[in-house]
Amino acid sequence: QANIVSIAQFDQADALDLIQEAQEFKAGKQIQLKKPAYAMNLFFEDSTRTKTSFQMAEKKLGMQVLNFNAATSSVNKGESLYDTLKTVEAIGVNVAVIRHPQTDYYQPLLSKSNLKIGLVNAGDGQGQHPSQCLLDMMTIQEQFHHFEGLRVLINGDIRHSRVARSNAQLLAKLGAQVYFSGPKDWFDPQLAQFGEYGDFDQLLAHMDVINILRVQHERLSGEDNAHFSEESYRAAYGLTQERAARLKPAAIIIHPAPVNRGVEIDDDLVESKHSRIFKQMENGVFVRMAMLSRILRYQNCL
Ligand code: CP
Repeated sequence: QANIVSIAQFDQADALDLIQEAQEFKAGKQIQLKKPAYAMNLFFEDSTRTKTSFQMAEKKLGMQVLNFNAATSSVNKGESLYDTLKTVEAIGVNVAVIRHPQTDYYQPLLSKSNLKIGLVNAGDGQGQHPSQCLLDMMTIQEQFHHFEGLRVLINGDIRHSRVARSNAQLLAKLGAQVYFSGPKDWFDPQLAQFGEYGDFDQLLAHMDVINILRVQHERLSGEDNAHFSEESYRAAYGLTQERAARLKPAAIIIHPAPVNRGVEIDDDLVESKHSRIFKQMENGVFVRMAMLSRILRYQNCL
């Protein structure tokens, strides 16, 4: 692949192939680059997991990683994202991993066919988060070894969530039954094509996977933030100890993190026997190695 920007690029076979390669990396597979390959991680939005995980994946693949600090870059002098990429491409960077607050920021870049640098989307506004989606699928597959018929509930702040958008799309392609719950005002009706919206308390006990979402205060409207109460949200939509007691014994909890402990999920559940939250972060490195490998193969570096 020349670029990985959206989960829409993946059909069932591609996604399973990539997860398989991630599992091989996890089992210790090593690769040898044919020539030096350079990565730059351009994060225009905050990140701990995705940025560190891509850096680790790049280093494990033997890539050289160049620093980029959005706050001190010439973007602040008005340089466009396209010109920033043409610049780092001219300097010799092979792969740019980009997180950006603008949904679909990559569309105008891809329509300019003269960009040779490989692009990996590390999250675009309320659009897509392909690496998070694929690491979530890897974590689910490790537990259940299949997707067909698996019941997956995505709960919480769906409207603002690129994770919800990516996961619902790929889970449906993989044959899982997708459900949504959370504040009705925060549901995105466009996602109804992938699964049905229902009541959290009624759905909970029948699910194999509970995908809890973070309340994204940075994306809520001023009015939503002004009226938000952590206690009310937890009472209505939070995965509390009482609710977790009704989960199927083999059900797993996933969350993209960072976690608002005590709001969308109780503190003690984050590291409980049902939780795979830190396993997701571990798997993220191997999924990102598999994603970067595809770009490196396209660039003839592998
Ligand atoms: N899950 C996720 O994208 O986390 P970061 O924002 O810390 O990268």
